[in-house]
Amino acid sequence: MITEQRIVTERVGIVDPEKIETCIDHHGYEALRKVLGGMAPADVIDVIEKSGLRGRGGAGFPTGTKWKFVAKTPGDRKYVICNADESEPGTFKDRIVLEGDPHTIIEAMLIAGYAVGASEGYIYVRGEYALSKARLVKAIQQAEEKGFLGKHILKSDFNFEIHVHSGAGAYICGEETALIESIEGKRGEPRTRPPYPTTNGLWNMPTLVNNVETMANIAAILRNGAEWYRAIGTASSAGTKVFTIFGQVNSRGFFEVPMGITLREAIDTFGKGLKLGSTFKLAQTGGSSGSLVPPNLLDTPMDFDSFKSGVVMGSGALLICDENTCVVDLAKVLLNFFRTESCGKCNPCRIGNQRAYAILEKISQGIGSLNDLKDLEMIGRNLYEMSNCGLGQTAGSPIRDILAQFRPEVEAHISSKACPAGICAMSGQPVLV
Ligand SMILES: Cc1cc2nc3c(=O)[nH]c(=O)nc-3n(C[C@H](O)[C@H](O)[C@H](O)COP(=O)(O)O)c2cc1C
Ligand code: SF4
Repeated sequence: MITEQRIVTERVGIVDPEKIETCIDHHGYEALRKVLGGMAPADVIDVIEKSGLRGRGGAGFPTGTKWKFVAKTPGDRKYVICNADESEPGTFKDRIVLEGDPHTIIEAMLIAGYAVGASEGYIYVRGEYALSKARLVKAIQQAEEKGFLGKHILKSDFNFEIHVHSGAGAYICGEETALIESIEGKRGEPRTRPPYPTTNGLWNMPTLVNNVETMANIAAILRNGAEWYRAIGTASSAGTKVFTIFGQVNSRGFFEVPMGITLREAIDTFGKGLKLGSTFKLAQTGGSSGSLVPPNLLDTPMDFDSFKSGVVMGSGALLICDENTCVVDLAKVLLNFFRTESCGKCNPCRIGNQRAYAILEKISQGIGSLNDLKDLEMIGRNLYEMSNCGLGQTAGSPIRDILAQFRPEVEAHISSKACPAGICAMSGQPVLV
């Protein structure tokens, strides 16, 4: 049976996040001592590159490569940003780390700063995460008192300071360039890329942006070595992944396992099976912009490459749905999210999400037509091809998936004016007859 392997959440629940001494007793700041005790910045980046670590913010970009880009870009000042915005529905993996082990983030940012040549960092925390913010602020204060932060860290020539910045509840501010705009005090709208933050980031300076979970791997990799890390997980995706599981399962929560777990294993082992009387219909994996996974993909190992088989790992959120789920309603809920969270900067996303939502609403009310499906497909394509950022580019995924995997059910809402799932529960619509 598959069991947990904890790297990212190793100290969560073991140390007191408000007492730095308990963290130091459990390897806290050992990796920083090792790095400042004799490793050159390029050697640090080399270890991260060889470890195979890929960004856990969703896209899986190789972390060592990104660090290298920032390191080699000249700049009077450089910045390290930890992206703790975590607004993806159903995703709370970063909160677990922020609340349970804030020092692992501080240590990683220090190491990253040393490696890329930055002396200032920001942690951008989701506005609703009040406890995370309080613990980070306290941890920063304690790290300063111990000489891990500030000037001449551990009596070296390395200086580094960290600021905590709160978001204000916008999903789009998790996108790295919108996040940077937000720190600069502007409206949280994504920039056009390129240029990328690695060359033109915060205040137009070279900036490293990494997700909380990505950061939480850094100290362990430097303590244990690149080979140790590379040996965990799958060929394309080294290490572990923190998943969150919820919906029609007996046990909801988070777990950390080597990359490559299947949905069936996740449901049976960590979800403790489907609720009594429930039958698996689909899972929504990877958050709102992820994939809707039908039963025939239950045994696909999940990693950064499994999207090619139709299973997006993304943020690691696993929403398990049973036979009472109406796919039209599910898509409607998701498009409602996207139309609300679209920043409105570009037309395909601002208008496309509204239009797609309105069509789904029509279909769920039993007044849709088969032509509406063609329009939905066209809007989905336009969103993907013409939107400025990842929000719009992936907003069409639920449309693509319901039409590819569950088309007869969608068509039944149109031709028979009936919901095969029995009820359009999420919209509060009565059963269509
Ligand atoms: C709409 C949108 C929302 C995002 N939200 C987050 C988020 O909450 N946290 C995060 O780390 N990355 C988020 N990202 C990805 C970031 O833009 C960026 O790729 C990531 O922080 C890079 O870190 P990584 O290389 O460690 O994955 C989001 C991207 C998009 C398009
Ligand atoms: S795709 Fe959507 S969220 Fe992204 S910039 Fe355009 S309008 Fe804003």
